[in-house]
Amino acid sequence: MSKGPLLEVKDLVVHFPIGKGQFVRPVDHVSFSINEGEVLSLVGESGSGKSTIGKALVRMIEPAEGSILVGDRDVAHIRGREIMAYRRDAQMVFQDPFGSLNPTRTIEQHLAFPIRKHRTNRSVSVDKQIDELLEKVGLTPVSETRRKFPHELSGGQRQRVAIARALAVNPKFIVADEPISMLDVSIRAGILRLMNDLRRDLNIGFLYITHDLASARYIGNRIMVLYGGKVMETAESGELIKYPTHPYTRLLLTATPGNRQRGPLPETSNSAPNLLEGRVGCPFANRCPLVSDVCRTQDPPLVETSAGHSVACHHPA
Ligand SMILES: Nc1ncnc2c1ncn2[C@@H]1O[C@H](COP(=O)(O)OP(=O)(O)OP(=O)(O)O)[C@@H](O)[C@H]1O
Ligand SMILES: [Mg+2]
Repeated sequence: MSKGPLLEVKDLVVHFPIGKGQFVRPVDHVSFSINEGEVLSLVGESGSGKSTIGKALVRMIEPAEGSILVGDRDVAHIRGREIMAYRRDAQMVFQDPFGSLNPTRTIEQHLAFPIRKHRTNRSVSVDKQIDELLEKVGLTPVSETRRKFPHELSGGQRQRVAIARALAVNPKFIVADEPISMLDVSIRAGILRLMNDLRRDLNIGFLYITHDLASARYIGNRIMVLYGGKVMETAESGELIKYPTHPYTRLLLTATPGNRQRGPLPETSNSAPNLLEGRVGCPFANRCPLVSDVCRTQDPPLVETSAGHSVACHHPA
């Protein structure tokens, strides 16, 4: 099977008005691609713009600039019915599986709805497709699961239903926005393994959004580190963990148990990045232990320093 790019995002900008003619820009010229059957892990602390990127990809929000190429079609500015049709390609799974399921509907009803709405395969009955989906996500015996309501399932099982619902339309890629962070630690690995099976068996591409570098590495083929709406560093997962070059990545790593190869880097402040449109310099400058004058006046470009490893820093380690 070919492993070409499913999705290519170029110079994506998202901004929101905050009054008095001002805008915040939580996504600022972000570019990346996701191949078939590949997981790209998007890592960054709260407010770095991860969910905003995810929502732009599935077109819950419209970007201000840039392109989102799916195949050879740019979906950045599609509207209305085109967006509904695009849902067949692009699905999103959220952090809170309870909030995303309707408490008055059975699991069967949750799955029947998207299957009927986007039905492409009429040779298989809706009933059979529901059974197949539940089996695929490990919710067996399926005849029991079908009749249950969300409150009768555990958090992990509910997240599996949310994943099954995303799969119901045969998507090309799924944005999984912190899908395990509200689950018990003991069942997190099972959900990550399920995503890995889907990647491998169905060739689905994933954007896996997380705070945590350990799970980013566990499931991601590549990792992209985001701060203040900009990509700080991106590389193949093993490479990024072993040879982090951006001071922010190194900081994140020091907060990850078992990863102290580079030694801790002292944090100089924990102020939030300035997201105002028109700000200048590196978004991490205020907190960076290696900051110099140039960092405050010039935005460092993202530069490839070795094959597949890029960093945006005036002073890479
Ligand atoms: N609709 C909106 N209007 C104004 N500002 C917004 C809007 N949506 C997001 N933002 C701002 O954009 C920034 C990035 O938000 P986003 O939700 O993408 O962060 P995140 O990385 O997903 O954070 P978390 O880890 O907490 O989920 C935040 O400062 C947020 O306040
Ligand atoms: Mg978020």
